[in-house]
Amino acid sequence: MPLKKTIRAAIQSCQDGFWKILPGSDPAIFSERPYELHLEFTNLCNADCVFCPYSQQNRPHAFMTDEIFAKSLSDFVAVGGGPVDITPVVGDALIHPKALEWVRRLRATPQVDRIAMTTNGILLAREGIDAVLDAGFSRINISTAGFEEAMYRRIYRNAMYRKVRDNIYALYEANALRADPVQLVLAIRADKPLEQVLADPDFAPLRTHNPAISFNYTYANSGGLIKDLPPGMVFEPPYPGPKRKPCFQIYAGLVVRSNGDVQVCGCESAVNADEALVVGHILESSLAEIWQGERLQALRQSFGTPSLNSNCQACDMYYAPVDFHSPKARERASVSRRRQAGEIVRRRGAMTEEWLLD
Ligand SMILES: C[S@@+](CC[C@H](N)C(=O)[O-])C[C@H]1O[C@@H](n2cnc3c(N)ncnc32)[C@H](O)[C@@H]1O
Ligand code: SF4
Ligand code: SF4
Repeated sequence: MPLKKTIRAAIQSCQDGFWKILPGSDPAIFSERPYELHLEFTNLCNADCVFCPYSQQNRPHAFMTDEIFAKSLSDFVAVGGGPVDITPVVGDALIHPKALEWVRRLRATPQVDRIAMTTNGILLAREGIDAVLDAGFSRINISTAGFEEAMYRRIYRNAMYRKVRDNIYALYEANALRADPVQLVLAIRADKPLEQVLADPDFAPLRTHNPAISFNYTYANSGGLIKDLPPGMVFEPPYPGPKRKPCFQIYAGLVVRSNGDVQVCGCESAVNADEALVVGHILESSLAEIWQGERLQALRQSFGTPSLNSNCQACDMYYAPVDFHSPKARERASVSRRRQAGEIVRRRGAMTEEWLLD
């Protein structure tokens, strides 16, 4: 192990030790209520990215109904609320005709904390860029291939490059004029190094905005659904060793799919994981009942045993299990406990987690 890595590991281990001797960790709250809610407005997409399992999705395309949206929201409020993400497992939220109307409804709900969305940006201007910025998002991640037409076509496999590029320009320009700018992140999925992406002439107009960038260096094979990646893109290495403890996703929150099925884990590796990760239906049980239900308990207990479902076994995105002692977990636990007691807790500042919410 290189010296730098060894020193970093030693520091981390001292820090972990320090947090473990302090009182105040509250592991029970993680199983008492979901911290976050993910709503999949639709599982239909207007792109077909080479790295995404979208084209192998075996679910019929569906649009969330008013009834499913309203029930999901009222159930989440009933357990105290928290942050909401409208990024679909696969698909693009902005395709849903009510996407912005529903975000405005979420924003008008006191128990809903920060609202996030990851989108491919194709439909950002459908109702006007200001309508998106005014809707009530705390953070918008725009995933795109970068700023070169040929690369966009190779990776996103559609002809909307110029529209997406111009939408991104317009979004940053309008956001810069706002008194309350929305947190924007450019999530770049390219088949060439980041430095080359940033040197592309079409990136130049964005430089003045100094955009926050999240660059994907590796890609999930999505439980084996993605067999090959084009040159320049590489898979995440497989998780080494058995998954002994429940993946963090199993304790983070619930995803209401477009057809009302409720599953744990909103990552694209869960695209076809009906048997494995669907733990209820929103019109048949409440989110609270589903969170406390037998199916979710059994799923948690199956980690570290031979009965772990094949989806999670094959998944290379396995999140480290919850370290109940970490400062982050303490913070989540304490906020969650306050929400459970009926307090409205609104967080401030930038969101720091890419897929989970804080
Ligand atoms: C599944 S997409 C859904 C939202 C929207 N369609 C988009 O692309 O932003 C959510 C995020 O997952 C990322 N993603 C999709 N497949 C992936 C993979 N195999 N590995 C890593 N990230 C992936 C996308 O780039 C995107 O940032
Ligand atoms: S990554 Fe997003 S935009 Fe690309 S195909 Fe998957 S769901 Fe659609
Ligand atoms: S192991 Fe993978 S599929 Fe299973 S819950 Fe974790 S991230 Fe999702």
